[in-house]
Amino acid sequence: MAISPLKNSALEAIKRAQNLAELEASYKAYLGKKGELTLILRSLANLSETERKAQGKEANDLRDLLEKRFAERKKEVQREEIVIQEKLAIREHVDVTAPGKRLPKGHLHPLTLVQKKAEEIFQSMGFAIAQGPEIETEWYNFDALNIPANHPARDMWDTFWLKPKNAGYLLRTHTSPVQIRYMEKHNPPLRIIAPGRIFRYEATDASHEFNFYQLEGLMVGKEVSVANFKAIIQEFYRQFFDKPVSIRLRPSYFPFTEPSFEVDMRWGKGSPRGEAGKWLEMMGAGIVHPNVFRAVGYIPAEWRGFAFGMGLDRLAMMKYQIPDIRLLYSGDLRFLQQF
Ligand code: DAH
Repeated sequence: MAISPLKNSALEAIKRAQNLAELEASYKAYLGKKGELTLILRSLANLSETERKAQGKEANDLRDLLEKRFAERKKEVQREEIVIQEKLAIREHVDVTAPGKRLPKGHLHPLTLVQKKAEEIFQSMGFAIAQGPEIETEWYNFDALNIPANHPARDMWDTFWLKPKNAGYLLRTHTSPVQIRYMEKHNPPLRIIAPGRIFRYEATDASHEFNFYQLEGLMVGKEVSVANFKAIIQEFYRQFFDKPVSIRLRPSYFPFTEPSFEVDMRWGKGSPRGEAGKWLEMMGAGIVHPNVFRAVGYIPAEWRGFAFGMGLDRLAMMKYQIPDIRLLYSGDLRFLQQF
């Protein structure tokens, strides 16, 4: 083969070689023992002196050029192969010691936290947990609790009635009906709490919702007194807030208790919106009215009891310094993620 086409095809082959094996093969084809250029170089010996000088220089120059190009291309190909290897290594490498991805995890709503904590404390004081339905009858929600139809005391509770109203079904306005349901089935002495959701047909503001949570309490025995009530509630608050808190009993009126009172708690330092020092109403309470015992078939002269109904929302507001009850029902994650 003449030198010049050989040069073109050899340079082309070097350029096309994609890896060391291909490059090696091309090298062999031109510069190997039986390579095309090698054969030409070897055949120079058969030529006349003048021809040998002319062709010899051309062939030797080409050999030098090809050696140089092969060496250059070899470096390139080696570098490319390292990059490819590294890419593969990264893709296939599994670092078993790398920390896992953190999945977002939910948590309990502050009201649930408060309810659980309250249940825990009352259970430790011997109270059982009772439950009742959210749709109640007029009898359990009112009559059995000494609130007869047409009695003005019914106006204390703004009620959602189920249609038709004369069927007597309603969304319970308080957890007090659970007292009746429990006493119907159990004999005294007894101690229960009944946490649950209640409903009021009223406008909402910072301290009122149309749906909220209460925790009812009832203790019936031979010698149960207001002193027992006060001691238990004081201890409950101490454990719940993890520190002694100031409470006061204020005379009040509920049809199902006599006497009746309200328990207020004083907002502490750091309270929201400057309520520090002010009193917040936390629960209604009293000594169970004889008519309530009569409604469940107890003999009033034989038993005494105290009852209370505390707002779980208020408890949460006090514990976490929440200024507005509506935040608890907003579903706003910026609020909820703080608990
Ligand atoms: N049921 C009352 C209310 O929702 C709260 C209450 C007051 C419950 C006095 C009681 C009680 O058990 O003795 O307003």
